[in-house]
Order: sequence, then C-alpha cells, then structure tokens
Amino acid sequence: MRHQIKVGVLISGGGSNLRAIFEACQTRKIDARVAFVGSDNPEVSGLERARKRRVPTFVVDYKAIQVQYSQHRQQMTLPADCNWKRLLKFQRLRPADTPHEALEAFFIPRLMAEARLLAYLRQQPFDLLVLAGFMRTLTPYIIDGINLDPHQPRIMNIHPALLPAFPGVDGYGDTFRYGCRVGGCTVHFVDYGEDTGPIIGQRAFRIDPGDSLETVRQRGLALEWELYPECIQLFAENRLRVIRKEYPLRGGRMVSRRVVEFVPRVYQKVIERGAVACGRSDRLEHQGDGHKGTHGAADIGKNDHQ
Ligand code: GAR
Repeated sequence: MRHQIKVGVLISGGGSNLRAIFEACQTRKIDARVAFVGSDNPEVSGLERARKRRVPTFVVDYKAIQVQYSQHRQQMTLPADCNWKRLLKFQRLRPADTPHEALEAFFIPRLMAEARLLAYLRQQPFDLLVLAGFMRTLTPYIIDGINLDPHQPRIMNIHPALLPAFPGVDGYGDTFRYGCRVGGCTVHFVDYGEDTGPIIGQRAFRIDPGDSLETVRQRGLALEWELYPECIQLFAENRLRVIRKEYPLRGGRMVSRRVVEFVPRVYQKVIERGAVACGRSDRLEHQGDGHKGTHGAADIGKNDHQ
C-alpha cells in the first residue's frame, strides 16, 4: 500500500469540501487520510460528517472567546509563547498604521483562540493542514507554529475566486456582483496575508447572462471538490516547491514573488531514489533550504521571506 499522508481539516460550515476530501481518500484517489477535523463553531454540520466517519473532532469557539474578551479585556493576555512585537512586525492582516488599541482588539482574542487551536494540533500528528471553508484568518503566531520549515509550507486554503481577485469572505458574491464573465476557485498555501499565499491550483468557469449567484456558487463548488483533492495529492507526492522568482519590470525595477513550482513526476522518482540512497527518508528537503527543524511560535519572523 502506498504511503498515506495525514491531513487535518479545519471547517466553519457544512463541509462539502470536507466530504469531497473524505471521498477522495476513501476511493484512493489521493494518498491521504483525514486525521482530525476542527472547527471554530460547535454548531456546524461538517463536524457531524466527521463523527459519522469516526474521525476525531474538536472545536475552538472563536465567538465565545471574542465575547469573553469584550467582557473581561483587562484579564485577557497574550499566549505566553507569543512575541507581540514580532507579530506586529510580520502580520499583514491589518494596516501598519492601525491604532494600537484596534490592533489589540483584533489580535488578542484571535491569538487566544489560536493558542487553543495549536494545543489541539500538537496532540494530533499531521502532515498537512487543510482549511476547507474555515472562515478565520490565521496570524503569523499559528502559521509559524505549524510550518516547521518556512520553505515547506503545510497549510492550504481554498478560496472561492480567482485570486488575487476578490480575496476575503465572499469570493463568489464579489465575482458575481462585479459582473465578471468568468469565475473560479483557487487553492493556495497560507502566508501572513489574507488569501495572498503562493497559488497551487485554480479552476475557472463561465458566467452567462442568465446566471444567478446561486448557480455561480454551485458551479464553483463543483470545481472546488475536484481541485482540492488534486492539490492535496500533489502535496502527498511531495511535488510542490515554493520558490522565489524575480521578474524585471520597465524602468529597471524588479518584482519578486513566491510561487509554487511542480516537480515533474519522473524527476520526483529520481530524487526519491537519491534520497533513499543518501539515507534520507520521509519528506524531502527543498534544495537550498537555509533553515530546517522544529521551531515554535516564539520564532515568529523566521518566515520573513513571505
Ligand atoms: C467554499 O466555497 C470555500 O471556497 C469557501 O467557503 C466555502 C465552504 O464550503 N471558503 C472561503 O470563503 C474562505 N475564505 P463548504 O463548507 O461546503 O466546504
């Protein structure tokens, strides 16, 4: 039997993408199994989907933490392992000139929720964390707590638009209301910004004059259910590399982007053989990695290439 990676899934809703991932695992379309399902909301039906399959579940109730924060602001502090200054330096979720109080109100409850999430995640070994309709942005605190090697990100997100267009919470709605003739979905690695990470895969569909938001959403979701398992399989085959590319612009300026490169399957086999011959096992290191090894949330900023 081929090696199966362990996938953790975070959801905030009905979990139709979760269902697609379960089915892809079950039918062996992907070399993966779902190790756990977590949610920010105890009510969502996606959790029941997981329980029926006897997959461990957990909830970190973000809303309850937010209410607790607004009522007992003075008593709530940062997680002990979070470096506030570094967090502010590297975060890209709020403009840099946001007043300090507003930054605290935005980040502190989030960080408290993320500390609880991390505690769960640390009890459950996983190779890849998949956000499947998880409607919470992640701060550098949890991202660095999960990405053991900044050159090998291991958090994926699916977004209901053709990024970089229409980031945020209503991708299909924004696409439809803008009058776009084409809509789509995107799977990307998560970085410090909102829906800004390196793109792994995209699918597009036509939007015709008679379409409604509902038909757009249905067409998009049907493509999401194909795209997400495909991207997970590329990760399982260790064929994704995030590299930095520099492009010259007019006027002598350069633009630099982190992008995903696919390792062709034929090369992958050669690399794997080489790795085995060198006594390396499991997942392969990216050539030229400067940093390797476990690091915790206190190391926020090590991913400063993001
Ligand atoms: C999906 O359309 C997904 O792309 C979107 O939420 C929906 C979840 O559906 N995610 C986001 O908007 C993330 N910003 P599901 O619960 O049926 O999988």
